[in-house]
Amino acid sequence: MSQFAEIQYGDKSYKLPVIVGTENEAAIDISKLRDESGLITLDIGYKNTGATKSAITFIDGDEGILSYRGYSIEQLAENSTFMEVSYLLINGELPTAAQLESFNYSISRRTLVHENIKKFLDAYPGGTHPMGVLMCTVASLSSFYPNSLNPNRSSEEVDRTIHRLIAKMGTIAAWTYKKSTGHPYMYPNNKLDYVSNFLQMMFGHRTEEYVPDPVVVDALNKLLILHADHEQNCSTSTVRIVGSSHANIYASVSAGIGALWGPLHGGANQAVIEMLEQIKADGGDAMKYINKAKDKNDPFRLMGFGHRVYKNFDPRAKIIKVACDQVLNKLGINDPILDIAKQLETVALSDPYFIERKLYPNVDFYSGIIYRAIGIPTDMFTVMFALGRLPGWIAQWKEMREGNEPIGRPRQVYIGHPAREYVPITKR
Ligand code: CMC
Repeated sequence: MSQFAEIQYGDKSYKLPVIVGTENEAAIDISKLRDESGLITLDIGYKNTGATKSAITFIDGDEGILSYRGYSIEQLAENSTFMEVSYLLINGELPTAAQLESFNYSISRRTLVHENIKKFLDAYPGGTHPMGVLMCTVASLSSFYPNSLNPNRSSEEVDRTIHRLIAKMGTIAAWTYKKSTGHPYMYPNNKLDYVSNFLQMMFGHRTEEYVPDPVVVDALNKLLILHADHEQNCSTSTVRIVGSSHANIYASVSAGIGALWGPLHGGANQAVIEMLEQIKADGGDAMKYINKAKDKNDPFRLMGFGHRVYKNFDPRAKIIKVACDQVLNKLGINDPILDIAKQLETVALSDPYFIERKLYPNVDFYSGIIYRAIGIPTDMFTVMFALGRLPGWIAQWKEMREGNEPIGRPRQVYIGHPAREYVPITKR
């Protein structure tokens, strides 16, 4: 097959190179098109635009395939830990035992946050959404580590900043929860692994020793792994584009947290549970809500359904569904919300509206039910997503910087008023 595509415009034709990825994904390289023809391409929402070449995550949306650095999500979720996967995403290879130990050590000795962070947290009004707090606190880390603001520093300095961010994000996330309950903040216990330490900062109390349940640790490891990267999604693209201006990593990740917050992205996990609660309170009639979702005059959407890339099934949802049943069984929890979720899934999957539009349950459909089962409150769900997505954001930020990518700056087609003369206010 030819390695170029041809565009006919006016009486001229333009040959454009075709780039083929390792999994045979082909893309037309249009970077010189404007210079040669004056044309730009228009793709609102970047539905068909590759923003970069990346060696981190591969998704085949039609086949329901997701892999990190070549390793399938199924194998990683089954066998790995969140820290090992973080190392893999950021460094490109699975670590040896010694490399993982040193990675864990470097992270665990940085989990403490500056005491002044507590003052920020205390100053927020009650009921503040924890995503807003997380976003601001991560951005605030930049004021405590001015030496790491320049993204062009040595690779050792960049690594230290990355480890610091992974370490402190767990503490900050858990403290946003403690702030909401009014309980004293729990300090990190660096003898524990990352997930157990996070759980003890969330659910531990100074009055007694907290021993994390291995079932919960395992489920949380899986959830974090499943969320760890998802190529050029909304928040990751945000991190890359902010970082492309050479903004520091705290500012870039903080912007990504903001993008993740929205209910069409990471905020969907909170929206799913709220929707299921609403259906339950309304008598549990799943069909009524399916019809609402199908009604073009009703803005209601079935949260946790549909995905920009997956048009067959979301492999993460498949793994989570099994994990969800396991966790509920092992913890002996009977959640009526789960019955409504299953009912909704069955009805939607056999309805022509959803079949024709290839709308399937996504990762957020079941993750909220597990979070609920392990005691994480609904408004913390998206914080959990952010915690999981962090190594992906970091890996993508690093790849973008190391590849010396130019500043992200899309073009537009202007559709406003043509040029006109200014009219003084007295004559309008
Ligand atoms: N419920 C009802 N209809 C839907 C839904 C839904 N959840 N999702 C898409 N549609 C319809 C939409 O109305 C449109 O119909 P039509 O062709 O008749 O106009 C068609 O399906 C295509 O939708 P779209 O909005 O053009 O698709 P998109 O690729 O721009 O949006 C999405 C993808 C995930 C934003 C969207 O499916 C959605 O809003 N889902 C609910 C929110 C959600 O669960 N988000 C989490 C995504 S997974 C976690 C993550 O990675 O962030």
